[in-house]
Amino acid sequence: TKGTYDTFMLKEIDEQPAVLRRISQHYLANNSSINVPAELLQLMAQADRFYFVAAGTSYHASLVGKRLFEKYTKKPVEVGVASEFGYHWPLLSQKPFFIFLSQSGETADSRQVLVEAKKRGLSTLVLTNVVNSTLAREADFHLPLLAGPEIAVASTKAYTAQIAVEAVLAKALGVQLQERLAVEWDLQQQLSLAAVGIDRVLAEKDKFAALTKEYLTDQEHAFYLGRGIDYDVSLEAALKLKEISYVHTEGFAAGELKHGTIALIEDRVPAIFFITEKLTASHTRGNVQEVKARGGNVVVVSTEETKGSGDQFVLPTLTPELMPLLTGVVGQLIAYFSTLQRGLNVDQPRNLAKSVTVE
Ligand code: M6R
Repeated sequence: TKGTYDTFMLKEIDEQPAVLRRISQHYLANNSSINVPAELLQLMAQADRFYFVAAGTSYHASLVGKRLFEKYTKKPVEVGVASEFGYHWPLLSQKPFFIFLSQSGETADSRQVLVEAKKRGLSTLVLTNVVNSTLAREADFHLPLLAGPEIAVASTKAYTAQIAVEAVLAKALGVQLQERLAVEWDLQQQLSLAAVGIDRVLAEKDKFAALTKEYLTDQEHAFYLGRGIDYDVSLEAALKLKEISYVHTEGFAAGELKHGTIALIEDRVPAIFFITEKLTASHTRGNVQEVKARGGNVVVVSTEETKGSGDQFVLPTLTPELMPLLTGVVGQLIAYFSTLQRGLNVDQPRNLAKSVTVE
């Protein structure tokens, strides 16, 4: 039930710190070993490449998973949109390992790929929030996301949980492979910092409501921009805003602006930049100037490490690949408040179903 909340979406957004603490407790509480089946880790250790397959928000979480896996396990990862992958299989490596991400565990596009992977005798794992779902039953292994029931059509806490569980897996496999970075990574501490960081973002709801009023009222188009991990989260933030507020929103790699997108920047167009990546922060700041010079209304979300004067939101710093745990929530709140202010149904947007069981 919604309890004291008017919408499931806001309730589910607010639950995220607790979700991270639950995941940490379940997977990482035992200091001597991570709670992931040894048999699964052994199989994964033998793989020469991982294939992440998912749809929508779960696909966006997979993009983050690729960065986590490649950094901590040093194994290559390919990420595929399920509906594309199913009909256009890439050439596989010698020892592929398939990881499916699905909140519902019922997404038909993802299931189609799973069925074919099984036919080919490939190893499969599903990360899902619904442990008695079709995908969980059909894959060789499944791990729970532990987000609790997600009712709102816009996926929020499942995205956060998927990133956290991907991090757990990357850490567990990295340790198994004796990768130094993985061994030294204090993931438990990072998840606890992330939970506190989300609490801080959630404490600023009034600021988000004021921001969406100022920047998004009467706007039909909006852009999210960022590089690297900030690009991944731009795609997710854009999906969130478009699917519930119906504002036409695109997420772009900030460096691509000058290759076309900048033609769309005109007076008052909202452009929200995520600048959490140190490596590219100064380049992205350059893009901010280009958008401002054309009259765009810029919002900058940065971190203690990358902040500049005038940034609207400055977030605490986490392991770079975990920043979407915080920037993702920023995107959720912007989508939530602009939808509310438009008088639209936050939980049940038009034309969409919670689980998409047709291809
Ligand atoms: O249940 P799944 O994670 O497999 O669902 C995948 C997508 O249908 C889902 O994430 C969808 O994009 C959401 N409406 C996004 O908020």
